[in-house]
Amino acid sequence: MSVGKASPLAPGWLSYPDDVNRLNSDLWARDVDRHGDELTISGLSVSDLAEQFGTPLFVVSEDDFRTRARSFRDAFNAAFADLCGGVDVYYAGKSFLCTEVAHWVAEEGLRLDTCSGGELAIAMRAGIPGEHLGLHGNNKSDAELGRALDLNLGRIVVDSLPELERLAALAAARRITANVMLRLTPGVHASTHEFIATAHEDQKFGLSLADDGASPATQAVAAALNHQSVNLLGVHCHIGSQIFESEGFELAARRLLAFLAQVRDRHGIELPELDLGGGYGIAYIETDKPRPPAEIAAAMADVVRSTCAELGLRVPRISIEPGRAIVGSSTFSLYTAGTTKTVQVDVDGAATQPRRYVSVDGGMSDNPRPVLYDADYSAALASRTSAATPVLSRVVGRHCESGDIVVRDVYLPEDTDAGDLLAVPGTGAYCWALSSNYNWVARPPVVAVRDGRARLIVRGETEDDLLARDIPRTTN
Ligand SMILES: Cc1ncc(COP(=O)(O)O)c(C=O)c1O
Repeated sequence: MSVGKASPLAPGWLSYPDDVNRLNSDLWARDVDRHGDELTISGLSVSDLAEQFGTPLFVVSEDDFRTRARSFRDAFNAAFADLCGGVDVYYAGKSFLCTEVAHWVAEEGLRLDTCSGGELAIAMRAGIPGEHLGLHGNNKSDAELGRALDLNLGRIVVDSLPELERLAALAAARRITANVMLRLTPGVHASTHEFIATAHEDQKFGLSLADDGASPATQAVAAALNHQSVNLLGVHCHIGSQIFESEGFELAARRLLAFLAQVRDRHGIELPELDLGGGYGIAYIETDKPRPPAEIAAAMADVVRSTCAELGLRVPRISIEPGRAIVGSSTFSLYTAGTTKTVQVDVDGAATQPRRYVSVDGGMSDNPRPVLYDADYSAALASRTSAATPVLSRVVGRHCESGDIVVRDVYLPEDTDAGDLLAVPGTGAYCWALSSNYNWVARPPVVAVRDGRARLIVRGETEDDLLARDIPRTTN
C-alpha cells in the first residue's frame, strides 16, 4: 500500500490507517470479514449480494442480532437474578422492526416495545402475545390506546395526565383494566460521553418529578390509583441514547426508586415494576468504546440493590428497552459508488488541502442520521482491496441537498471510483426506520444473512410502489 499522510482536515478522532483494507471488528457484525479481497458476511460476498438484491441495500446479520439480544438478556438476568428474579428485556422496535425481526426477538426470549399502531400491527403479524408487548408514545391516539387494550397489552407506558384519563375511560368503557407504567422524567439527560442532571426536563416526553409535593408524576400516581380501570404496575424512564457511561442510568435508577419509596409512604403501596429504558451506545467510529452488557448490568444491579436497601424498598421487577445496542452493529448498508471528485479546501494558515467526494446511490433517504444528528459513520471499500494511498474522503448521497452526507470523514483508497461497492457499518438502528422517499427515491430492501444464505426480509420499494400513492388526474 502507498503511504500517505493524515489530512489536517480530518477530525481529531480519525486516525490515519496503517492498512485501509483492514476491518475494525468493533464496527461490524460478527460474521463480516474479508475473503479473497471482498467483504463477506457469513461467507457471502458483497458483489453476490449486490447482484442478487441491488444497491442500496441493508444487510443484517441474523446471527449477530440474535447474539446481542441474548447477551443483553443473559447479562441482565444474571445481574438481577437474586434481586428480583431477573429482568424483562423489551427490544425497542423503533430502532428497526419488521415481522422477521419480531420473530427473532420472541425466539430469543425478549419482549417487544412498540410506539405506534403500525409497530403493533407488525407485532401482531409475528404473533407476539399482547402480554409481551409495550406501547409508548407522547401523543397516542384513542385508536392506538383502544387497540392496545383490545390486545391486552402487558404495559401501556402513559406519558401524561390527559392520556391517563383517556386511557382510563377507554378501559372503563370496555370493562377491563389497563396495565399502566408511568413515564417519568427523572431530570437526567445523557448523551454519548457525558450526562447532566437538571432540575427540569425541557422536552416533550413524560411526567416531571420536579416539585416533590404536587409534581405531575405524583399527581399521575394518585389519579392512576383512583381509577378502577387502571392497574398501575410501576414507573419508567428513558434518559437518552448512544450512552457509554453508566452514571446517567444509575442516577435515574436512584431517583425513580426514591419516587417509588415516596409512593409507598404516601399510598401504602409498593409498585411492583421499574423500567430503566434503553440508550446503550454502540461503536460507529474507532473511538466509540461501548461497555459490555455484563458491565452495565452489574453497575445497575449494584445501584438498585444499595438504593433499595437504603430506602427499605422491596426490589421491583426491572425491565430495560435496548434497541440500538441489539440491532445497530448487526447491519451494514451497501452502496455503489458513482461520481467522484476532489476539492481543495482552505485551511487557516496553510496550503489548501484535498478532500475527495465519493457519491453513492443512496443517502439521506436511507440514513438521515448524519443530517439529523451530525452522526459520524465509517465506511470501507467492499468489492475489492486496494493498494492505493488512503485519502481523506467524504461519502455523500444522491439527494438534492448539500448536507446529504453519509460518512463525513473517512480515509478511503485514492482509487475508489464509480462502480466500486462501499459498505457502511452500524446502520441497523434508526436508519431504515427513519428512511424516507425524499426526491421520490424508493426505500431500499433489507436482507438477512445467516449460515451463508441471504433472504429478503423487507422488500425494496419500486417505482410502481411510489406511483401507487400518487393520485393521477382522471380524464372525463
Ligand atoms: C422510551 C424509549 N425506550 C427505548 C428506546 C431505545 O433506545 P436505544 O435504541 O438507544 O436503546 C428509546 C429510543 O428513543 C425510547 O424512546
